[in-house]
Amino acid sequence: MQKADLGVLVDDSQLNHALAGRHGFEYLPFYTIAAEQAGANVVFFSPRMLPARNGKINAFTWDRTRKSYQLGEYEIPPAIHNRIIFSKSNAKRVRALFGSYPTILYNGITRFDKWEVHQHLSKNPDTSQYLPVTAQFSSPHQMHKWLEQYENIYLKPCSGSLGLGVMRLRQAVHEYEISRTENRCSCHYRVSENRLPEIQKRMMKRPYLIQEGIPLLAILEQPVDFRVSAQKGAAGQWEITGIVAKVGSAGAHATNLAVGGRAVDAQEVLAKVFDPDMAQFLYAELGKCALQIAGEMESMGPHISDLGLDLAITQEGTIKFIEANGRDLRITFRNAQRRKMWRHTFTNPILYGLYLLGKKEGSDWNESHSAEC
Ligand SMILES: Nc1ncnc2c1ncn2[C@@H]1O[C@H](COP(=O)(O)OP(=O)(O)O)[C@@H](O)[C@H]1O
Ligand SMILES: [Mg+2]
Repeated sequence: MQKADLGVLVDDSQLNHALAGRHGFEYLPFYTIAAEQAGANVVFFSPRMLPARNGKINAFTWDRTRKSYQLGEYEIPPAIHNRIIFSKSNAKRVRALFGSYPTILYNGITRFDKWEVHQHLSKNPDTSQYLPVTAQFSSPHQMHKWLEQYENIYLKPCSGSLGLGVMRLRQAVHEYEISRTENRCSCHYRVSENRLPEIQKRMMKRPYLIQEGIPLLAILEQPVDFRVSAQKGAAGQWEITGIVAKVGSAGAHATNLAVGGRAVDAQEVLAKVFDPDMAQFLYAELGKCALQIAGEMESMGPHISDLGLDLAITQEGTIKFIEANGRDLRITFRNAQRRKMWRHTFTNPILYGLYLLGKKEGSDWNESHSAEC
């Protein structure tokens, strides 16, 4: 039976795409190249290939010379980079898929509840300074109060949305403007006060957050926010792997690619809005904020080491936290033509996996591979 140093657990659909030669958001060869350059090997498998039996697993490797995937039988790798959506509630069930084998599943939790994250970050002044005013949605009365206080409010499902469930509300004279996503676009409606209960009813069905609207930077009325990748790397420390801007369509309530936003170079965007010194300062501040947030979120689960943070810069130049994604699709970096950053988001998790192996009790990975590194 063959041995692999690392495994990457990817979605069935991502693996199917890769095997068919059409990569989705997971560009698996980047993982292989990073591992090979560090003198290690990595295998890929998906949930349909689980549970692992008797310490064995069927998995694919990427062959660089043949440019194709090879199926083989492997010992369960000692460390596995998780790229599947798992929430805290199913973490135990997921771990059981590997039996009693002591593999390290890193990034085992990839879906965070937005309210839990908010509460966690509000405990530390280093991170609470970045938080917009936020509460759990509780009642129509609360919503009316917030609308009196803030020009815009956001209503967001606590769990996962890609911008699809996010709504913006503003009060107009005797009516409300609601902006929400429909057919990949930001749509705006005016509704009278008596139609609000329909919306409120929907929000009683699943947990929602209510949040003050952050006055986002805008270029020609197009809202701008930022995706910052914070990952642990070879030294086991948080690093900033990439920063790009997401620019929404004019007047849009969200910048997500799924709502018609596009990813562009962050420094170019900042240079359009601020003078060169301020632009440089804010770019560095985005990284600093992301490192603080990542460091604080680390204690929310075992081996959290890969976060895609949505951060905003207000029109006055203040940084605000929007949300943390536990499985960054990383395509914003590709779409913004920042290929090095994009590639780096695949390299870092591999190097972190090797770092974990070096630390694992009884591991001989460091000794046997140090010459190759
Ligand atoms: N409080 C807010 N103020 C201004 N814009 C916001 C706010 N919350 C969300 N947005 C916009 O909506 C987008 C999606 O919200 P986010 O919290 O990231 O949820 P999702 O999980 O749907 O991506 C953000 O990238 C941002 O453009
Ligand atoms: Mg988001």
